Amino acid sequence: MLDCIKQRRSIRAFLKKEVAEEKLKEVLLSAMYAPTSWGTKAWEFVIVRDRARKEALSKATAHARFVKDAPLVIAICYDPSVGRRFKEDSSICAEHIHLEAVNQGLASCFVQVADAGDPPGSAEPYVKKLLNIPDGLRVQCMMPLGYAKRELKGHKESEFEPAKIHYETF
Ligand SMILES: Cc1cc2nc3c(=O)[nH]c(=O)nc-3n(C[C@H](O)[C@H](O)[C@H](O)COP(=O)(O)O)c2cc1C
Repeated sequence: MLDCIKQRRSIRAFLKKEVAEEKLKEVLLSAMYAPTSWGTKAWEFVIVRDRARKEALSKATAHARFVKDAPLVIAICYDPSVGRRFKEDSSICAEHIHLEAVNQGLASCFVQVADAGDPPGSAEPYVKKLLNIPDGLRVQCMMPLGYAKRELKGHKESEFEPAKIHYETF
């Protein structure tokens, strides 16, 4: 497990190689294994492969431009009438996607949607309209998914910072 965690990086350049359905299914399965507040599993996923739609998604924020070049994008949505911890549940789910992507030989990146955009907050309604996401639902982020263009440079043991760890009291 630590190997995948160490290898995981935010990848923003992808090969022009499709992601097989079986791999996508494993990634989505990992998302659905994520812990959720009260076990509500309030997330919903929109898978986008259409080029024009990905192009439009990449305009959601200044930090989403590379999204258009991924073979597919997973938009992580959330129904607040079902669950009560939108940000936490969606973000943990996104991390499962990130890690299972690595396990499948793929790569991804957490691309912020909620509260993002220019002006701030504009990205979410923009993405919702584009993907026909029902009114009451929220969108936390997009996860582009594909094969990394360059070899993944993983994290290093030297990132361990003992000074950040406090025992018993701060
Ligand atoms: C909450 C959150 C929001 C992020 N938003 C974006 C984003 O909008 N665009 C982007 O390119 N990267 C985004 N990232 C990725 C971070 O920039 C990245 O995780 C960080 O630079 C560390 O690099 P690493 O993931 O390769 O370890 C986000 C990450 C998190 C956790």
